[in-house]
Amino acid sequence: MKSVALRLPHPLDERVCVDLKRHGFHGTILKGATERLVEGLAQSGFDAVICGAGQNYLSSDMLETCDSAGIKVIALASNDSERRHAANLGLYEVIDAAAPWPHIEQLLTAGPALLRDGNDAPRIPGEPRGEVIAVWGPAGAPGRTTLAIAIAAELAAEGHSVALADADTHSGSVAPTLGLLDEAPGFAAACRLAGSGSLTTAELERISERYQSPHGSFWVLTGIGRPHRWPELSGERVIATIAACREWVDYTVIDTGFCLENDDEISSDLFAPRRNAATISALREADRVVAVGSGDPVGLSRFLRAHVDLLEIIDADRVLTVINRIRSSVIGANPAAQVEQTLRRFGGIESPVLIPHDQAALDAAILAGRTLRDVAGKSAPRVAVGKLVASHILPRPAPAPRRRAKWKRREPAPTP
Ligand SMILES: Nc1ncnc2c1ncn2[C@@H]1O[C@H](COP(=O)(O)OP(=O)(O)O)[C@@H](O)[C@H]1O
Ligand SMILES: [Mg+2]
Repeated sequence: MKSVALRLPHPLDERVCVDLKRHGFHGTILKGATERLVEGLAQSGFDAVICGAGQNYLSSDMLETCDSAGIKVIALASNDSERRHAANLGLYEVIDAAAPWPHIEQLLTAGPALLRDGNDAPRIPGEPRGEVIAVWGPAGAPGRTTLAIAIAAELAAEGHSVALADADTHSGSVAPTLGLLDEAPGFAAACRLAGSGSLTTAELERISERYQSPHGSFWVLTGIGRPHRWPELSGERVIATIAACREWVDYTVIDTGFCLENDDEISSDLFAPRRNAATISALREADRVVAVGSGDPVGLSRFLRAHVDLLEIIDADRVLTVINRIRSSVIGANPAAQVEQTLRRFGGIESPVLIPHDQAALDAAILAGRTLRDVAGKSAPRVAVGKLVASHILPRPAPAPRRRAKWKRREPAPTP
């Protein structure tokens, strides 16, 4: 039987205590000053604490104590400011105070307590704005989504706060690839709020989903599952959404569509919505564009043709060329040298990053709905993306200090 401490406003504490006992839990109502209670929690033997989400009930000290003692924390929020307080502290197990008992019980019994691993801490106002990386590639599924997810996972694993946004207006597929629900597309919701000037960090956290991983969790703004919703992703809205993301997280990784056709040339109506506006705006706003091609003869020729169009939209110095699915079976012996030579000869592109083909690893990731890092951490494509992120995206490490820095052992995950 689970032993649960209750630290809630009256009479909510009594209502929840009755529900707990009725459903086979042992509930104890805690009273007194929060600081003294926090001291006692570490040795209390409680499995979980259900507390109010407001400042009087929930503090960072309390979360820290509970995290290190393996006590799960669930907060009941009565209003938006309480919800915001809990989100600021990095607590996701927050439920409406009026929620029926089965919903609270579901949170109590679901999986282990969430790890707050540092990369979901809110940004400090005044910090440099976050960086934006757009992942683009021509038609033919060269691996834009695969690369965008893998880059987000690597950045999160380095302890950064990361949001992965799906701005593909033709075939958004981040949500199905990561096994997330996409009934309420987060990116479209963000664009709608940005359009009305009400997209805040709190709103971004409310509408995004969280991909949980022991290696580093990240936010996901899911894409439009149904392509006919593309008019919701207008250029101005996408630009405003990206600006809000810069204030929200350290890195925003955007999965874009393939098509760079500028609809201005097709329609003379200045105010008509434009299908490729989301992709083109994301590319223009991004600090870096990862341009992905497929490492086979057809993929390379598609890439080289579309690369010319890409350079009409953004400067070459912001583009990092990545050729994915490198394998000899489709291009002959020494595929890396063949690809490099083709790019140099026909596109004047030097030093592309090459990502090996590994069908088994990618299939396993899709089957599990997890990132490559979580499923096949030692696979060749995952190692190559790790190197790409370290050498092209993350800032170069400062020279090693003379004295050995103190290191801290990572705490094991609390048992459920
Ligand atoms: N390095 C790789 N090795 C093997 N398969 C890959 C690799 N990269 C991508 N794939 C596979 O290619 C398919 C298309 O990838 P995806 O990222 O969805 O393409 P895009 O977003 O460009 O349309 C997916 O089934 C994916 O698993
Ligand atoms: Mg895709």
